[in-house]
Amino acid sequence: MNPEHTNLLYFSPTSTTQTIIKEIAKGIGKNVSSALDITKPEIRNLSAPEFVDDLVLIGAPVYGGRLPKDAADYFKAIKTSGSLAVLIVVYGNREFEDALIELKNIAMDCGFIPLAAAAFIGEHSFSNNEFSIAMNRPDKKDLEKAFAFGKQIKNLLGQFKNPADLAPVDVPGNFPYKEGKQLGPLSFIDVTDDCDSCGICITACPKNAIDETDTYATIEKDCIFCCACIKACPQQARIIKTGPIKDKAKWLSENYALRKEPQTFLAG
Ligand SMILES: Cc1cc2nc3c(=O)[nH]c(=O)nc-3n(C[C@H](O)[C@H](O)[C@H](O)COP(=O)(O)O)c2cc1C
Ligand code: SF4
Ligand code: SF4
Repeated sequence: MNPEHTNLLYFSPTSTTQTIIKEIAKGIGKNVSSALDITKPEIRNLSAPEFVDDLVLIGAPVYGGRLPKDAADYFKAIKTSGSLAVLIVVYGNREFEDALIELKNIAMDCGFIPLAAAAFIGEHSFSNNEFSIAMNRPDKKDLEKAFAFGKQIKNLLGQFKNPADLAPVDVPGNFPYKEGKQLGPLSFIDVTDDCDSCGICITACPKNAIDETDTYATIEKDCIFCCACIKACPQQARIIKTGPIKDKAKWLSENYALRKEPQTFLAG
C-alpha cells in the first residue's frame, strides 16, 4: 500500500505525545504532508479535516485511563474514506486502560482502517522536582522504540496491496470504557511573586483558562489540569499547591516508580 499522504494529528499539552508521534513518522520515512496540532483551542474550533486514501498518525495523552474529552470530541468529527490510521496514546507510567481502544473505536467510526497502535510513556503532567513521575520521558530509549515502530509500519505497508485485506489492529482495553473521573473544578495552582507577567502560560494553555488580564487567575471551570502552563513557565512561578493534585503526584511517584516500556501493536 502506498498512501497518497502522511498526516499527523495530535493533542499534546506538555508535548510528549507530539515528540513520540514525530519520531514514529521519522521511522516510517515518508514526507509528512501536514501536522495538525489540535492542542490550541483556536485550532479545535475549526472544522475537522477530511482524509482520502491517506496515512494518518493520531495521538493523544491518557487522562484517567481515557482520552481527554477535548481530543476525543475533535477526533469524532474527522471524516475519511480509504485512509489508514496509526493510533498512539501516551501515558504517565501508571496505566493506559481504555484510552487506546477508545481511540481505535473512534477511528473506526470515522471510517479509518487501523493499521497499527501503540502506548508510549511520557513524563507525567503532575511530575516535578519534588514528586518525579516518569521524569524526562520519552528518553533516548523510548525514541529509539518509536523510530523502530515506524520502520515496522513501513514494512507492513509494503506487505499489503489493498487496505481491505487488513484485519484492524487488536488493542488492549475494555468496552464499556471505565468511567471518566471529574477532577474538578478545583483550584490547584499557586502563582508566586516570581511571575513577571510574561504571558507564556496564557499561550501554553489549551483551554484559554488563564485570565489574559491577570496571569495569577486560573479560570477553574475550564482548567483540565494538563499542567502545560506550569511546565512552560520560565520563572517556575506556577506551582501545584497543597491539595488533592499534589497528593496524587506524591502517590503516583511512590507507587509507579517502576519503569514501564512502550507497547506496540500491528494489524495482521
Ligand atoms: C488530568 C490528567 C489525567 C491523567 N491520567 C493518567 C492516567 O490515567 N494514567 C497515566 O499513566 N497517566 C495519566 N496522566 C499523565 C499523562 O498521560 C502523561 O503525562 C502524558 O505524557 C501527557 O501527554 P502530553 O505531554 O502530550 O500532554 C494524566 C495527566 C492528566 C493531566
Ligand atoms: S509564564 Fe510564569 S512568569 Fe510568565 S506570566 Fe505565566 S506565571 Fe507569570
Ligand atoms: S490553566 Fe489548567 S488547562 Fe490551562 S494550562 Fe494550566 S493546567 Fe492546563
